[in-house]
Amino acid sequence: MSDLTLLEKWFGILDTIGINEDGSTSRLGYTDTEDKMIEAVVGISDECGLKHYKDEAGNTFIHNGSGDGDYTIIGSHLDSVVQGGKFDGVSGVLAGLLILKKIEEQKLNIPVKVGIFRMEESSVFGIASVGSKLITGNLEEASLKKASNPESVSLYDIMTKRGYSTSPAMIKNLKQYFELHIEQGRVLEAKGLPLGIVSSIAAPVRMWIKFTGNQDHSGATPMDLRKDSLVGAAELITALETFGKEELSNASVATTGIVRNTPNVFNVVPGETLLGIDIRGIDKESRERVVQNTEKKAAAIAEKRGLKCDISRVSQSDPVKLDEELQKKLSKTAEKLGIPHMVMPSGAGHDAMFFTKLCPVGMIFIPCKEGISHSKEEHAEIEDIVTGCKVLWDYLLTS
Ligand code: GLV
Ligand code: MN
Ligand code: MN
Repeated sequence: MSDLTLLEKWFGILDTIGINEDGSTSRLGYTDTEDKMIEAVVGISDECGLKHYKDEAGNTFIHNGSGDGDYTIIGSHLDSVVQGGKFDGVSGVLAGLLILKKIEEQKLNIPVKVGIFRMEESSVFGIASVGSKLITGNLEEASLKKASNPESVSLYDIMTKRGYSTSPAMIKNLKQYFELHIEQGRVLEAKGLPLGIVSSIAAPVRMWIKFTGNQDHSGATPMDLRKDSLVGAAELITALETFGKEELSNASVATTGIVRNTPNVFNVVPGETLLGIDIRGIDKESRERVVQNTEKKAAAIAEKRGLKCDISRVSQSDPVKLDEELQKKLSKTAEKLGIPHMVMPSGAGHDAMFFTKLCPVGMIFIPCKEGISHSKEEHAEIEDIVTGCKVLWDYLLTS
């Protein structure tokens, strides 16, 4: 079976899990649906004669049993955002599996493990890459206790109920880490290139901003006697967009992705509005300017409108630069194979970022249709995944 047909078959198996009626995927981290995705991939790997184990945080590693020495990880994630697509994360895991299968079939002595990292998406709890952060020393247990879902259940409680450790052992013996991922942007497609080599990865600050006012009767409360939390929040949402636009040249971005308005009915002046805000960038100072401006503006709005304002940072990571030597070597490999490519930054976050303190990290991007991601419209060509695999495969064989 060709690599293309095999990948199509594997995607076909996974495309039955966590699919919503509208065709989008909801495969949230540390849920039964994410478990099913992992079980399905482990099932495929069993059929390929591969082995696997789970670590204390619930991350899964697929390998061929080749020794205890230093090894290469090819990894990514199988969870998705709420109403996401089928290629984010999954492409990287299946690419790793394809490469490991070849290594096993050809009985090559190249120690590789496919890493499947839990809860890469921050959709619900505001913390991204939970599995990879935990085993690389990038996440404190206290943050898991603080992070909670809309039902006020903490991520700490969810993980411990599922039998996972929130302070697992660190991963060891890493030689290098690779991740193949869809670009989630429009650059490769616009340039007609099948491959990107990632130079750096932007990182987020995520925060909750809660406005509290007076919940009142919408008919009986005159306009000059209101303390409407939603109107204060609305003012902040548009200000946040302006702060993001002011940093366009530094590539920072700012998004209000969550609005939880209480009680959220026709005939009541809103009394409490919670905003979930995501501010990202490659330039830390630029990103911090957006954060500071947002915090100041929230306080000023609260003062002006007689509201109470509570701000808390849920999570924060540093932008990272990926290994320059690996970038050069991957570029050379692509050149040798006649694959046109470019070096580019990543605006989205990835598990790869958290391995940079432990070993050299390389990442390759493949195009996705119109750059759309975190949407049911997300689409990548399997042929492009095969192209990315060719580069990683050749690099592993010749390095
Ligand atoms: C991961 O998908 C992210 O939110 O960057
Ligand atoms: Mn994603
Ligand atoms: Mn991803």
